Amino acid sequence: MGDSVDSNDLSIPPLPLLERLKDYGQEDVFACWNELSAEERHLLVKDIEALDLPRIDRIIRCSFQSQGIPKAAIEPVPESNVSTVENRTMEEREKWWKMGLKAILEGKLGVLLLSGGQGTRLGSSDPKGCFNIGLPSGKSLFQLQAERILRVQMLAAQSVNEDAGSARVTPIHWYIMTSPFTDEATRKFFENHKYFGLEADQVTFFQQGTIPCVSRDGRFIMETPYKVAKSPDGNGGVYLALKSSGLLEDMAMRGIKYLDCYGVDNALVRVADPTFLGYFIEAGVASAAKVVRKAYPQEKVGVFVQRGKGGPVSVVEYSELDQSLASEINQGTGRLRYCWSNVCLHMFTLDFLNQVANGLEKDSIYHLAEKSIPSIHGHTVGFKLEQFIFDAFPYAPSTALFEVVREEEFAPVKNANGSNFDTPDSARLLVLRLHARWVAATGGFLTHSVPLYATGVEVSPLCSYAGEDLEAICRGRTFHAPCEITF
Ligand code: UTP
Repeated sequence: MGDSVDSNDLSIPPLPLLERLKDYGQEDVFACWNELSAEERHLLVKDIEALDLPRIDRIIRCSFQSQGIPKAAIEPVPESNVSTVENRTMEEREKWWKMGLKAILEGKLGVLLLSGGQGTRLGSSDPKGCFNIGLPSGKSLFQLQAERILRVQMLAAQSVNEDAGSARVTPIHWYIMTSPFTDEATRKFFENHKYFGLEADQVTFFQQGTIPCVSRDGRFIMETPYKVAKSPDGNGGVYLALKSSGLLEDMAMRGIKYLDCYGVDNALVRVADPTFLGYFIEAGVASAAKVVRKAYPQEKVGVFVQRGKGGPVSVVEYSELDQSLASEINQGTGRLRYCWSNVCLHMFTLDFLNQVANGLEKDSIYHLAEKSIPSIHGHTVGFKLEQFIFDAFPYAPSTALFEVVREEEFAPVKNANGSNFDTPDSARLLVLRLHARWVAATGGFLTHSVPLYATGVEVSPLCSYAGEDLEAICRGRTFHAPCEITF
């Protein structure tokens, strides 16, 4: 950012600012100057002054240039890097669960929510986390997540003292990343709902950065004659945002060593999962990701790959994966060779988060997402520049993949109802069906007036996190679906 210009005389564009813009070929932002009122001129000058032009220019150049550079060939992730469901024993699961709860009790786990996206596909004007997917309880995604955190705290307390129902539990700190598009509404939603039973001071909101949207030739797109169009810098903006907001120090001060990081739009997300944490600690890696098996070659999910023989683990988006590679079969297993789908459920050490922000910023390579951008010329095709959370994996000295069962942990809410997949309706059904199976497994019965595949029950996260402790509530009881089961 440069020195502030003399804001009193704005009969012509301020020369120093104009010169700086010319250095980066962005002087067109003043194209409508003569038509602007005095107030609008002030707004435009402030808008431009707030931009870190050298940094943005570097990012635009590096990102466009990187498009033409061939990337190292990909290989499937070696089996030894993956903990598969079929190879996992009951003893291991119990061991990891206990290890995870112990670390949580010791205050070593923080939870990091990525909630700065604009949710354009869902089409709601509120942040996605406020969305009610139509469960019997009417709970929002934020509430489901908050209550899972409360439940894990309770389980952690009970793990040292079986009678600890009302004992003091260690609050798990919840860091919530918003963007200028979601920040105010998210904070208000939490306040209005009294933090869903969490303590207000165990929740920290912070904002990710934004970056100008650009045309095909790298020029800023104007949203109005006095405002540059901007968008959040992608969920990978979290690394820089944590660093610049001083929250990495805040985490260290609280004694947090591990961060469970996830996207807001998964109705089945196991927030602060003790099993995953225990596995992560035992594996001794810097980063880990939960993965599900890719359902079919054309499924629109990114997959984990290895870049070059022995190279780092990274994610290739479905749009970038060659169709013939996507369909390749491993002759030994009969399964897809590139089968480990990324579902945005990650665990990182705090040490790794400290390292990664510098590396990503130095590279300055952002993904170019071609989108329709609101502009002074109506909606125009341009690029949003984004980093992705998984861009960090190549910087990790070690990454482990932890397979989970899709039906247990992945109910994405991406598109509006009426779309073919990943809608609030499809997510609601996934929750109802999973919880119906939990109830049946613990000796409960369901009645229903529509076919069972179209309904089910909802178990409050305050009663059960992953199907545990339902015997006392469900055995021998009959529930009329759909309904919520709570204490
Ligand atoms: P998506 O890209 O799938 O969702 O982000 P979106 O951006 O909310 O929705 P569309 O693409 O506009 O329809 C996956 C996760 O990453 C977060 C989202 O909030 C979601 O939890 N995210 C995305 C951010 O936190 N910041 C971003 O800049 C982008």
